Amino acid sequence: MIRVDSIAALTEQLQHWKDKRFTLGLVPTMGFFHEGHLALMRKAKSQCDKTVVTIFVNPRQFGPQEDLQLYPRDFEGDVAKARQQGVDLLFSPDPQEMYPDGYQTSVSVAHLSQGLCGTSRPGHFDGVATVVAKLFNLVRPKVAVFGQKDYQQLALLQQMNSDLHFGVEIIAHPIVREEDGLAMSSRNKYLTPLQRQKAVGLFEALQHAAGCISETASVPASILITAVERKIMDIEDCVIDYIAVVDALTLRPKENAEPGDVIALAAFFGGKVRLIDNITL
Ligand code: PAJ
Repeated sequence: MIRVDSIAALTEQLQHWKDKRFTLGLVPTMGFFHEGHLALMRKAKSQCDKTVVTIFVNPRQFGPQEDLQLYPRDFEGDVAKARQQGVDLLFSPDPQEMYPDGYQTSVSVAHLSQGLCGTSRPGHFDGVATVVAKLFNLVRPKVAVFGQKDYQQLALLQQMNSDLHFGVEIIAHPIVREEDGLAMSSRNKYLTPLQRQKAVGLFEALQHAAGCISETASVPASILITAVERKIMDIEDCVIDYIAVVDALTLRPKENAEPGDVIALAAFFGGKVRLIDNITL
């Protein structure tokens, strides 16, 4: 596995592969790999000649009160895991390389960046769109793989890809879960053992709501939201940020939930650790 941390070295290596007409698969990450990240890497590898993984804890997608400094990191561990998956190139720039002094440009996806996680994380999705646009331009991949765990992020990046004519084939990877059903996340590390035990309640609540809808009929979204709310309010130490039933493509709130819609939620454990999850009805 080749490791580079400068844009010059990245570009030089990619040029060799492009000269040989190799197709590139890109997996952007912020590191601290778990099985969810590794599954994305395997997917990219199965679709392309060369797999490029990036590790960059992107300061622009963290709000001033958020966990940028505390975001978990394990660079050497990540290198070993990526190598084990057969990743061909690991790009890990520092913030100065991506945003040199005088940097000015931002990418903003007007509607999909609003609502859901956009409400409690203002500016977050501009940071995500900006860094992924830069990575698409630097790597020019044939495919890029993103996880459905960050459902709004995925929808927004698909829109950006289309709006800005990147022409990248975006692959949506299903959510990878722990054995008990908790969605894997780098932030799970910050849960106390008791919170970790209770956190599976988020997925159980979503599953319960999904069970309330039959394959044909529609159900008022408010009924599903209340059902999820009740379950989560019973979880000790857990405060709901949002629960929403939305259209799978536009992410607009639905009045009546139908099969194919998405229930998405975010909740805080211990006031600090913010977890997200979603399920397609
Ligand atoms: P990060 O949280 O490191 O996630 C990197 C990729 O892994 C994203 O596409 C995310 O959706 C996916 N992922 C995380 N947990 C997953 C799980 N349990 N199952 C499936 N996929 C999962 O998302 C980001 O980084 C950043 O916002 C980024 C896109 C890299 C831009 O900075």
